[in-house]
Amino acid sequence: MLQPSSVKISEIEFFELRDIIVKVSGIMFSEHKKYLIENRLSKRLIELKFTSFKEYNNYLKNNPKRDAEIVTLINLVTINETYFMRERGQVDYLVSTVMPALIAKNKKNIRIWSIPCSTGEEPYSIAIELFDAGFFSKATIEVIATDINSDVVEAAKHGVYREGAFRSCSPQFISKHFTQQGTDFLINSNIKNRVKFNVGNIVSSKIVPMMGSIDIIFCRNVLIYFDFDNKKTALLNFNKILSNDGYLFLGHSESVSRVSTDFVMNNFGTGIVYTKK
Ligand SMILES: C[S@@+](CC[C@H](N)C(=O)[O-])C[C@H]1O[C@@H](n2cnc3c(N)ncnc32)[C@H](O)[C@@H]1O
Repeated sequence: MLQPSSVKISEIEFFELRDIIVKVSGIMFSEHKKYLIENRLSKRLIELKFTSFKEYNNYLKNNPKRDAEIVTLINLVTINETYFMRERGQVDYLVSTVMPALIAKNKKNIRIWSIPCSTGEEPYSIAIELFDAGFFSKATIEVIATDINSDVVEAAKHGVYREGAFRSCSPQFISKHFTQQGTDFLINSNIKNRVKFNVGNIVSSKIVPMMGSIDIIFCRNVLIYFDFDNKKTALLNFNKILSNDGYLFLGHSESVSRVSTDFVMNNFGTGIVYTKK
């Protein structure tokens, strides 16, 4: 019987599959990720009774069920690493400066978007910090969280975490907002109910009408995986979605420079926030 690790991917098959993945999601796997792809997809090939990636690639291109398989493929290959209060300087800046600035302008509805949200640690961190600072009583605040991977979005909706997700948090953060059940930590419903999750793709034009106007975008630790054209597409979409006085936060190792001229970079000491030109 074939073992999951026994389906090997050739160079040509890898390049063909990589083109399919980048076209759908923006994620560009470099050649040294060949084995990651092989490891993550071998079991799926065996489930489908394929003995080669060539057959799988053909299925993704020609089979009537290809759309459903693309969803499975993307769920299997995305890198979903995240944790609570990651790059916390930006969340601190949101609370200390961005929210007060929007409220001072008399903004009654503030829409915040965490994209990609992975398993929910980022949008829940935002909701927790806003809650602790009392912002939910000062304006109508929507926290929306989106990811291309439907499995992580389902997990995020459940809001159940293990200890490793809290590597950057104080014991008070955990005890105030989570209920421990054995080795699981369940997010309390007063925070859980503040975040609305959905599945969406930042390089698809459908994301613009789907989201409407957003005041604050957190798009952290995904553009690093994209090729140049898809970075450009994502930033063009953000430019359309972001309100004129809105704010865009990217991950620490990400930047708009050389990709978009639509944003102004503002350095606030512990990080960077982009505003629209
Ligand atoms: C490393 S996680 C980042 C999560 C969180 N923003 C953080 O900084 O901790 C990257 C996430 O990007 C998602 N992703 C990849 N391509 C995407 C796309 N085109 N649209 C939306 N989400 C995408 C993946 O599914 C994955 O959950």
